Amino acid sequence: MIGIFDSGIGGLTTVKALMDTLDGHDLIYFGDTARTPYGSKSRDTVARYAIENTEFLLGKGAKIIVMACNTASSVATEILKEKFHVPVFEVITPAVEQAVSQKNRSRIGVIGTRGTINSGIYERLIKEKLPDSSVFSTPCPLLVPLVEEGWFDKPETRMIVKKYLHPLKVRQVESLILGCTHYPLLKTIIQEKIGKRVKIIDSSVAVAEKIREFFLSHPETDGTIAKNGLAELFVSDITAQFETTASTILKRKVSLTKV
Ligand code: DGL
Repeated sequence: MIGIFDSGIGGLTTVKALMDTLDGHDLIYFGDTARTPYGSKSRDTVARYAIENTEFLLGKGAKIIVMACNTASSVATEILKEKFHVPVFEVITPAVEQAVSQKNRSRIGVIGTRGTINSGIYERLIKEKLPDSSVFSTPCPLLVPLVEEGWFDKPETRMIVKKYLHPLKVRQVESLILGCTHYPLLKTIIQEKIGKRVKIIDSSVAVAEKIREFFLSHPETDGTIAKNGLAELFVSDITAQFETTASTILKRKVSLTKV
């Protein structure tokens, strides 16, 4: 199984991307709904949660770990790689690689939680690869609760997205990285508000592509993962709203199991 975790339900955008990209590899997901959000917590706390989530998934038989959460990816990648002897994937590098390989790549925008943006990780990784580029980032803390409420196309959501994106729009970014699990669900509004010429880079799609390439070059690991198209979905707290949002993201009726 491929083990995926996130601070909550939003990481199911990565599960959906993996389902759409891979060959029916079995998936196991843990959404830490009892302790969400991670975006406003300290680095130490997020790192501790990431370790616990990984231990849970490995205990259930996961052979590789995918951190769907940008906030966890921004603080816990090295910690997990050192501590656990399985392949660990995060969502930041694949999105950065896509951004720096665009034809128009001198002005790159990034949006994410406060934790992710304050970590400066996107900016650092982009500058390492493209020192002459300009990176403009802005935190968008209200977008996660709007998505969790299912307010995907409300006038209020459109207004808030427009306001958040304004500073990036005036700086004429050429691409925009969606550095948060939840933002792919607002992709249509984001594209509309930032402008149709801006290339949107979705970190959930980027990591799914990276994992597909990994399996092609590592058949020995690929061979350890059953391919029955199964997905087990665990959460640390459950409400009817979580199930509704999960079903919306995966585009089918799903049930979650509380652990
Ligand atoms: N999963 C988080 C991320 O991608 C967003 C929600 C949270 O703050 O926990 O950064």
